[in-house]
Amino acid sequence: MKRLIFLGAPGAGKGTQATVVAQDRQIAHISTGDILRAAVAAKTELGQQADTYMSRGDLVPDELVLGLVKQRLQEADAQAGWILDGFPRNAAQAEALDSLLADIGQSPDHAINLDVPDEILVARLLDRGQAQGRKDDTEEVIRHRLRVYREQTAPLIDFYELVGKLVSVNGDAPVEAVTHHLISLIS
Ligand code: AP5
Ligand code: MG
Repeated sequence: MKRLIFLGAPGAGKGTQATVVAQDRQIAHISTGDILRAAVAAKTELGQQADTYMSRGDLVPDELVLGLVKQRLQEADAQAGWILDGFPRNAAQAEALDSLLADIGQSPDHAINLDVPDEILVARLLDRGQAQGRKDDTEEVIRHRLRVYREQTAPLIDFYELVGKLVSVNGDAPVEAVTHHLISLIS
């Protein structure tokens, strides 16, 4: 299996796990959050537009995100397969992804939901905020990101369940244990 969507709340471990699994499977790790943060740091037009939304913990408008995913999926390393980390984030993005993939004759093998209780998510993100200073890792913005997740992203769990692609994985375990579980699922 080489085309995977990682679902999961902020702090669930999508980025941590996608980095290792993509390396193991030799496929592309596509994180819209990482791409957007790089654009913010580089002060590109896209970055300047995205910054306001990201600092508040709101989703960046779909039209800004769709273009960069489309472009990224066409790059050479993504032809071997990919993990989408943090995309899609709402129903419109999920539908756009379907049609974008249909155009290039692809479809996701699985959508993997990393399941972690809320209080653990908040603790992880507060720790990271302390350690790394990511601007949206403050208590207030974390709470808002979790609300946005519940309202806009969590419904995608049902969306992928309905099409028979959902796999749920307990993400509240040591990093290596979650990685092991994921790799055994997709190998
Ligand atoms: P994004 O970058 O996607 O952030 P997020 O979803 O809020 O979640 P994180 O990246 O914080 O969590 P993660 O699940 O990757 O966990 P991680 O592995 O880092 O989005 C940021 C913003 O960009 C959004 O708010 C939005 O504005 C914008 N954006 C991005 N994509 C968008 C889209 N498609 N559409 C619109 N807007 C978009 O782990 C978290 C911490 O926990 C780390 O410190 C890690 O070391 C630790 N940890 C991980 N796993 C474990 C474990 N098993 N045990 C203990 N600690 C662990
Ligand atoms: Mg992440």
